[in-house]
Parts: sequence; structure tokens; C-alpha cells
Amino acid sequence: MTLNTFTLKNNTLHAENVALNNIASEFGTPCYVYSKSALTQAFARFSAGFKDANHLVCFAVKSNPSLAILNLFAKLGAGFDIVSGGELARVLAAGGDPKKIVFSGVGKTEVEMQAALNAGIFCFNVESVSELLRLNDVANFMGKVAPVSLRVNPNVDAKTHPYISTGLKNNKFGVAYEDALDIYLQAAAMPNIAVHGVDCHIGSQITELSPFLDAFDRVLALVDALEQHGIHIQHIDAGGGIGICYNDETPPAFDDYATAMLAKLGERNIKLVFEPGRALVGNAGVLLTKVEYLKQTESKNFAIVDAAMNDLMRPALYDAYHAIQAVQPRDADTVNYEIVGPVCESGDFLGHDRMLALQEGDLLAIMSAGAYGMSMASNYNTRPRAAEVMVDGDQTHLIREREKIADLFALEKILPEA
Ligand code: LLP
Repeated sequence: MTLNTFTLKNNTLHAENVALNNIASEFGTPCYVYSKSALTQAFARFSAGFKDANHLVCFAVKSNPSLAILNLFAKLGAGFDIVSGGELARVLAAGGDPKKIVFSGVGKTEVEMQAALNAGIFCFNVESVSELLRLNDVANFMGKVAPVSLRVNPNVDAKTHPYISTGLKNNKFGVAYEDALDIYLQAAAMPNIAVHGVDCHIGSQITELSPFLDAFDRVLALVDALEQHGIHIQHIDAGGGIGICYNDETPPAFDDYATAMLAKLGERNIKLVFEPGRALVGNAGVLLTKVEYLKQTESKNFAIVDAAMNDLMRPALYDAYHAIQAVQPRDADTVNYEIVGPVCESGDFLGHDRMLALQEGDLLAIMSAGAYGMSMASNYNTRPRAAEVMVDGDQTHLIREREKIADLFALEKILPEA
């Protein structure tokens, strides 16, 4: 996906038709800015490859759970991949269709299972035998039958950052491929479980096609083996994981992914479910921040900005690269800057070695911040979380107010006098 919704016009970076400096003046910084058109286009492009196939695109809510974004995707026909009762509530509040929800995650609680059974979700992606037994009990108690896929761990290397690789044997996710057939036979015999699908998710920010295809081969072999045992699989959930371009990566094009997956599926009459997160939102958002101070030390030039690791954790946590652009680039000699936040940790950086011409008060855009940006933000250092704005053509909508400092300790209490 290209970054063409964030472009320089009249030497000013715009989101669609709105200049980012105007957004900063109106809503302050730090501020997440999303492009409605980029979100819409990404969903349309992902879906286009599967238009002739029975399919469902379930947006991975964890990548960006903003109600406005969920509502936009719901209107475009998306389903949702959730991993908690909180995400279920969000999707319902945003107008998502419960019949298009898949529920992933290794630690579903009884309360979460009940809420999802009450909502009537499309499928539980079950990750262990213990979870299967518990779900059968909970469904039995409620007089319901739970639709289930087993998440199988195909043991393929997604060739991505170890923290976000999930399909290897030693990960906590899914059931071992070798055990899957046996567990399916157990599941099929449980009165309050209905076996509907097979699920697999091997990792995130995957930039090659081959791990997806290797995993899909293994899943299809399992589906065929299950058919031999009289268990008909109605859908395969291929998970998410398609990477985006942050710097110079060349992730698989959506069309190539779709063509290759459909070729492997062949004539089988099976619905395909996908759980993309980053690929739909990552390049549809930027984090807007202001340079507070420029500081020179003997060896480095620091640009201290008003966004920090609590706003965008990816650089600190994964050493992730995000491009950083000046909102109004200066016609002056560039200097090598460390772009850092005000949080009291040396790990609080947003970018190393960035050649920029800066003055205090300048605005910067941290690019490709639409996925796992706001969703992983925290209040570390008692910093209110940023505002979020959605741009639609020349319109600007505040979709989340900046947190107020008083909100941050509203739930706390001081001990009574002894
Ligand atoms: N399905 C499941 C079961 C997942 O665990 C995930 C992501 C997705 C779908 C969506 O994956 P995506 O299409 O976005 O790659 N915080 C990390 C990424 C963690 C991904 C966790 N699972 C980051 O900032 O890079």
C-alpha cells in the first residue's frame, strides 16, 4: 500500500486535503491522524482479490480499536477478529455484526466465553484442549452449542521479529500440528461444540509470501485428513500477518496473496476467513508531534518531541523503524538527529539517525503509525493519551478526545487516615 494519502502540497504535509499543521493547531499534539480514504482503499484492495470466492475479512481489532475505524470497516462489510471481552464490547458498540466475529486468544475466560456465546459470534478460535473442555462446559451451562475452529500451529518460520512470530513450535499459540487430528476427533464428540473450521495465524509484519503458502499447505492437508475422518470443515481462517512498507520492505501485494491462496484452495467448497490488522490500517495513520527542544551533546543531536514511547511503543519495544517527515520541510542543511520523547528512559526514542532540518516548534509526522500505535499506548509517566482525528477529504473529525490529566487518577483512592 502506498503512502499517497499523506502527501506534500505547497511544501506542507497533508492528510488527504487537510494540512497537518492545521490539525495540530486545532487539536494539539501529540495527535494520531488517520485517512478515511486510505482505510477504505486498503479494505477494498484486500477484499478485491477474493471477490469471486466465499470469504470474510475480519479486521484484527487489536491493531486499531478506535470505534470510528471499527464502524467504518463494519459499514464496508468487514467482520472482526477479537481477543478479549473488551474488544467484543467495542465491536458491538461500533455497530459490528456479531455473526462476523471470530474470537482468538490463548486465555479466554468463562465470562468472555459467555459474552461471546450470548452475542452469537461466528467462531471461537480455540487454542488448547483445556480451552475446548471449558468452552464445552460453558456452552452446556447456557444451553448453547459453540462454533469452533482449532488454531493449529503449522510450525513454519514467518521470518519476522521474534516477538511477533507465532507459528513456531515453541510459541504459546495454537495446538501442535501433529496433535490436531486427534483433538478434532475429541471436539467432534463434545455435545456442546460444533466443529466449523481450521484456524492458523503465523505472525505479523510478514514480508514474504512463502510462509503463508507453506502454512496454508499444511492446513489444507489437515482439512483433507479431517474429511477422510468424516469431519467436514466449512471454513479456513488463514489469520493475518501481511506486512506493510515502513521503510524499504516489499511485502506481498494483496492480489498476489489472493491469487496464490485461491490456487491452493482449488475446488474445495470452503469459505476463507482472514484476520488482517496492520495491512488495513498501518499506512493509513500518522502520529503528529511537535519539536519541543533541540539539544546538542558532544556526540549526538537530539530533537526532543512531545510524543513518546507511551504514545508509540513500537520503536522502544521492537526497535521498529518508522519514517519521520517534517510537516513543513525547511530549505536548510540537514543534521543527523535522534528523535526522542520526554519519558525518563533511554529506550524512549522514535527514530535514530534522521537527517532533518529542524527548529524548535516544528511539527513532525511519524509515518505508518496506524497499526499498533494508539492501541498499545499507555499512561506511563502520567501522560494523557493522544487525541485521534480522522480526515475525510477536506473534513476533519475528532474521533477521540485527548485524555485529561484528571481522568488518569479518577479511579484511584488515597488510604483513609489511620
Ligand atoms: N490474528 C491474530 C490471532 C493475531 O494474533 C494478530 C496479531 C492478527 C490476526 C493481526 O496481525 P496483523 O495482520 O496485524 O499482522 N504489536 C506488534 C504486532 C503484534 C501482532 C499480534 N497479533 C507490532 O506492533 O508490530
